[in-house]
Amino acid sequence: MSRLVVVSNRVAVPKARGVAGAQGGLAGALNSALKKHGGIWFGWSGQETEKFTGEINIRRGDGVTTATIDLEHQDIEEYYNGYANSTLWPLFHYRIDLTEYEQEFGKGYERVNERFADSVLPLIEPKDLVWVHDYHLIPLGERLRSLGLKNRIGFFLHIPWPPTRLFVSLPFHERLVRTMLHYDLIGFQSEEWMESFIHYCSKELGAEVDEDACTITLDGRTTTAKAYPIGIDYDHFMAQGETGEARQAEQRLLSSTRHRTAMIGVDRLDYTKGLPERIDGIGRFFDFHPERVRELVYVQIAPPSREDIKSYQHIRGLLEQKTGQINGARSEVDLVPIRYVNKGHSAAELFGFFRASKIGLVTPLRDGMNLVAKEYIAAQDPDNPGVLVLSRFAGAALQLKDALLVNPHSPDDVAHNIRLALDMPLEERKERWEKLIVTVREDNVLRWTENFTSDLAGVDHNP
Ligand code: F6P
Repeated sequence: MSRLVVVSNRVAVPKARGVAGAQGGLAGALNSALKKHGGIWFGWSGQETEKFTGEINIRRGDGVTTATIDLEHQDIEEYYNGYANSTLWPLFHYRIDLTEYEQEFGKGYERVNERFADSVLPLIEPKDLVWVHDYHLIPLGERLRSLGLKNRIGFFLHIPWPPTRLFVSLPFHERLVRTMLHYDLIGFQSEEWMESFIHYCSKELGAEVDEDACTITLDGRTTTAKAYPIGIDYDHFMAQGETGEARQAEQRLLSSTRHRTAMIGVDRLDYTKGLPERIDGIGRFFDFHPERVRELVYVQIAPPSREDIKSYQHIRGLLEQKTGQINGARSEVDLVPIRYVNKGHSAAELFGFFRASKIGLVTPLRDGMNLVAKEYIAAQDPDNPGVLVLSRFAGAALQLKDALLVNPHSPDDVAHNIRLALDMPLEERKERWEKLIVTVREDNVLRWTENFTSDLAGVDHNP
């Protein structure tokens, strides 16, 4: 088996406390992949340095070797807060209203991608498979090729790919996609995002597309593009559920909610997650059924994210305001309908919270996949499973068809589905869960890694 060199913006430092909801799915998924294959995980340390030196900090531990570099303040501003998270992130999640097109961001993005390429190159051995992750590093493959790297290089996009009509609002969109076609294999979370990408390549670049072979050919170079829906590290997550920490967390939530049903949401505090819209849906449910405030308590765990960016500060304020309004209007001296927790929790604690909650609300406005939905299903008691209410705009909805699928933009639809979930008989809950758990268990992160890496090892290679 070839060694794997994984490159991503963020690297999970060995022994870091796992905070599934806060970290996003990527870090946990890659950790598992690397443990199996061996190799190196390269990325930004998350630290700022006064002057970029390219010095690499190597750490070994927990079966995974990480290699990280520090970035300068200007790099972090223009590449991470700028082009990655104020340009590509909102645009790829269909939010052109929030997208910032600053030339300096684009230059910083290219500069950091060059820094990544120069720094990782000496760590790569001739037979390694190189696997680049996510929107922070789209041009990295082309940079590595221009430095003479001949290895097979794959790229996986963890977020949606937007429809062509939105994507062309990005200045230099063509340049960005042309760099992408230097990868041998490109993976997407779902067929929908893959089709949008192929549509762009064919309509805007005039590339030749072979739908059966899943290939895109431009200027004599062929790239394969396929959908690989990511899963959770099922065995590891289930083992977390066996711990005292998980059981304590479950008891803590159960004893504090007593006779009320707990409904839970766990999301990074991000405008794509549809949090204010979700609170509107919950508010609408209480408008329709004011007496049921004694039956239901909503627990929102929302660790802050990307706090230096204005749109993230705004969403936090909005969420606090909406939560406060509902709690002000609906609380009694002995009960509060919404508990809003602004910090991350370990995977074991989340397992316990999910198991204690008979409804899981996962209602992003747009999401590449969403692993919280899968973790919620995994944590359920088979004899008394809860109900997943899932946005139809999450990549996960294409796999988890037996969840209650909702339109997160419609408070009425969210309210209606909360009511259905709350009143769903045990038999139907079990029937739905038994189908959902098969996907969650079988299409796990190890299978995802195997599928991607074995395809990468076998695709047409044009160094
Ligand atoms: O899933 C998208 C993603 O950007 C991941 O790459 C990342 O792990 C997660 O969201 C959290 O984002 P950030 O690294 O910006 O905190």
